[in-house]
Amino acid sequence: MIVQSLSYKDYRNLKDARIEPSDRVNVIHGKNAQGKTNLLESIWIFTGGKSFRTTKDSDLIKFSKAETNVEMHIKNNIREMGLKIQIEQGKRTVLINEIKQSVPSKLVGNFCAVVFSPTHLSLIKDGPALRRKFLDTAICQIKPTYSANLLKYNHVLAQRNSLLKRIKMSGKEDKTLDIWDESLAEYASRIISQRLSYTEKLKNIADKIYRELAQEKEKLSLSYKAVGVNKELSDLSNIKSELIKKLEETRKEDVALGFTNHGPHKDELEIKIDKKSARFYASQGQQRSAVLAMKLAEASIVDKTIDEKPVILLDDVMSELDRQRQDYILNSITNWQVFITCCEDNISGRLNTGKTFRIEDGNIYEE
Ligand SMILES: Nc1ncnc2c1ncn2[C@@H]1O[C@H](COP(=O)(O)OP(=O)(O)OP(=O)(O)O)[C@@H](O)[C@H]1O
Ligand SMILES: [Mg+2]
Repeated sequence: MIVQSLSYKDYRNLKDARIEPSDRVNVIHGKNAQGKTNLLESIWIFTGGKSFRTTKDSDLIKFSKAETNVEMHIKNNIREMGLKIQIEQGKRTVLINEIKQSVPSKLVGNFCAVVFSPTHLSLIKDGPALRRKFLDTAICQIKPTYSANLLKYNHVLAQRNSLLKRIKMSGKEDKTLDIWDESLAEYASRIISQRLSYTEKLKNIADKIYRELAQEKEKLSLSYKAVGVNKELSDLSNIKSELIKKLEETRKEDVALGFTNHGPHKDELEIKIDKKSARFYASQGQQRSAVLAMKLAEASIVDKTIDEKPVILLDDVMSELDRQRQDYILNSITNWQVFITCCEDNISGRLNTGKTFRIEDGNIYEE
């Protein structure tokens, strides 16, 4: 996947412009608050998802303007395409090769990208929910049926929890709990087995990238911890029967709390650096390196699965990293189109192949 050109009009603080990025590394540098993240965001929105920094489309329109237009020419493995997004009063219109689409979601699947933003550091720092979400989002990209299964699981979980509360209130047993357990375990086993196999793929690639970043001095390990299930079990029916057993064993406890205590909604993707929990012990640079390695590994799995290399967007990834780690980012992500924002000035001399752009007060200059 290559962005051949990008143009925008009235997008956030950016002055209207058109750029032709390198199909390798593109460094966008400038002082704080000049528009670097805005530029990456204008590319990211073509994935069809929400912005990684805001949930409201109307935020993307330049203050005091009525609409914004962003246009991109891309080349994927099969063909070249023109994509356009217009946002007016918070309403998004999408054009693909100049043809207006009935719904904006038609954009999804045409352009793929992986983004690192400093907000993603919470993937390491925060609780397990974000790590589960990372896995879920990544798996959805390569296995569309996963998302429907997840929805069903959450629905059954909510039903089982409300039944647990009713049993607690009435003090009477309810036979229908067996049916909910069976159904919950069915959907849960599919989620767990998908997350286990995704983590298996992710961990080897992420560790390889991490070790390269850290010049072989540190090791990253990822493992999926399924609460109440023996990790060695990768067979669906085994995971299901183990979970049913666990739900039965802990039924009293669940009724007392009015909540289901086992299942994929409680699982954890454990991230360790040199055998120690990254959440509690990793330095700032290590946390950045670990998230970056996971994101690049995610991109690599997309490439292996759909034979399309996502564009890599790295927002402010270099700060807090030492020179060797920075140079790895600048020069070792070869064969991918990469956009890197940073505040450092003297980057062009350190870049082997690619282009550098400077952003000043929303104006972009190719150097
Ligand atoms: N809708 C908008 N219209 C006009 N300006 C906006 C809009 N939304 C955000 N801005 C402004 O854009 C400016 C640049 O934001 P951006 O996040 O791109 O900066 P940056 O170059 O990434 O800075 P940093 O190095 O601090 O991350 C900010 O000062 C912000 O106030
Ligand atoms: Mg920024």
